[in-house]
Amino acid sequence: MDSRIRNIVILGGGTAGWMAAAYLGKALQGTAKITVLEAPDIPKLGVGEATIPNLQTAFFDFLEIAEDEWMREVNASYKIAIKFINWRTGGEGSAQPRAAGGRSDHFYHIFGLLPFHQGIPLSHYWVRKKHLGQTAQEFDYACYREPLLLDANKAPRWMDGTRATNYAWHFDAHLVADYLRRFSTGKLDVEHIQDRMEDVTFDPNGYLTSLRTATGRVLTADLFVDCSGFRGLLINKAMNEPFVDMSDHLLNDSAVATAVPNDDAATGVEPFTSAIAMKSGWTWKIPMLGRFGTGYVYSSQFAGQDEAVKDFCDLWGLDPDRTNLNLIRFRVGRNRRAWVKNCVSIGTSSCFVEPLESTGIYFIYAALYQLVKHFPDKSFDPVLIDRFNREIETMFDDTRDFIQAHFHFAPRDDTPFWRANKELKLGDGMQDKMDMYRAGLPINNPPSDDASHYYANFEEEFRNFWNNGNYYCVLAGLDHLPPRPLPRLAHLPESVASAEALFARVSEEQRRLVESLPTNYGFLRSLHGHT
Ligand code: FDA
Repeated sequence: MDSRIRNIVILGGGTAGWMAAAYLGKALQGTAKITVLEAPDIPKLGVGEATIPNLQTAFFDFLEIAEDEWMREVNASYKIAIKFINWRTGGEGSAQPRAAGGRSDHFYHIFGLLPFHQGIPLSHYWVRKKHLGQTAQEFDYACYREPLLLDANKAPRWMDGTRATNYAWHFDAHLVADYLRRFSTGKLDVEHIQDRMEDVTFDPNGYLTSLRTATGRVLTADLFVDCSGFRGLLINKAMNEPFVDMSDHLLNDSAVATAVPNDDAATGVEPFTSAIAMKSGWTWKIPMLGRFGTGYVYSSQFAGQDEAVKDFCDLWGLDPDRTNLNLIRFRVGRNRRAWVKNCVSIGTSSCFVEPLESTGIYFIYAALYQLVKHFPDKSFDPVLIDRFNREIETMFDDTRDFIQAHFHFAPRDDTPFWRANKELKLGDGMQDKMDMYRAGLPINNPPSDDASHYYANFEEEFRNFWNNGNYYCVLAGLDHLPPRPLPRLAHLPESVASAEALFARVSEEQRRLVESLPTNYGFLRSLHGHT
């Protein structure tokens, strides 16, 4: 008997729905029929514009779509880092870093691995110098090649297309869903039905058998993928799987977002996402050609909607009555199990954490990768389901902890929101990591600084997703340093002395890159065919 999955229905046509259609369509090579059911009258989120570097290797390479090709379809731009602004000092929301004690209140969280020296990451030599008063340089400027080119709004590629640094992308969320819809229906025979799901049917074992729509269609399938967004129509409402709320770790639950036109010729196009600390949360700025996407992510416990809208509009000099504002409420946490029986949730129906580290879209393709790895037949082996669920749980909880650390360790404490964050309990896994960090050990250190190896192997990256470099960028950026250097370094005088040559090489590289790279604006105009 053929027990293969022959029919898949995906509920929802947002970023998650169309990424799922494209990825599963490619993975199953025409052996299963895939249908996307999307309610034309229920809008998609329409945000989700900043990404991380493995979007190309883990998603678009799998679809065999070249980077420049999809970039042109979705007005994509480059993102080399996240610039955290005003996370140390209190005050009104301002896109300009404040100056305090001769320091600019900003730091970069940069993609890519830290260089190693004799098997020890450069971070650890820097901490030692810092403790001994031998350096005044900030961590990111001392250890990474990118800060000067970021300050100068340079592109991560030379004009001939060669890559100079690691990078990810910004794009227009609506264009992405549209592009993947055209790709899936045009190249992979995915069927697209525009109708609203109203009801479901079950077999006697509690497996879903069909979805019924407003116009009376009945869509039967073996496997149902819930991409219905925060509603979780299949996984939470039909299958009754509880959503584990995590607002005891993260206070933000709302956002107000818009797009702001930008005079690129005058200002350039920044090759990074900004995360600007505000009175009751933070604001993202995601630059693309001609405009930037922006949104204030805030906690409704500490700011009402009117106050948030006012603070957000004041930040950019917008008139609230004449600006098209997208008001969003979100839930924070994950389903107890992302996959139950023959229903798998992917996207915001599965889990969500605020976009401080741009992980929403990553969660989608990481879950698709895991779904394909654990792909079932009609017997729905519980081991496959259970292993998948454990991967999603680890992926999510690890990220939730990392995001919480940003707020918890931020020095600023000028408003009730920032003070309340200090009172929240860190997860057990995070406590453990912080103990390691304070003892001077690297957290989740990759085996080497060979980025081409690390980034080429998604399995390895998935397991060590937030590694030593990520923790150092954020914690050192927030002035939260280990109280003493790694004790071992005191016994390695030669290594400590020769690490100076590596610091010098990093600075030389910074100068070489900033002098030789084109502007991000110039590169993007040429890529998108503007003369
Ligand atoms: P979405 O809500 O977009 O789609 C749901 C779909 O289900 C829609 O097509 C709807 O029509 C359909 N539907 C609902 N009910 C239905 C019914 N009864 N019948 C049929 N269809 C139905 N991520 C990231 O990587 N980087 C970022 O910068 C951000 N930024 C960001 C900011 C904010 C404020 C939020 C809330 C989220 C982000 N994200 C993000 C996350 C990102 O937006 C998100 O992961 C994707 O948009 C995926 O959304 P979904 O497709 O899950 O839901």
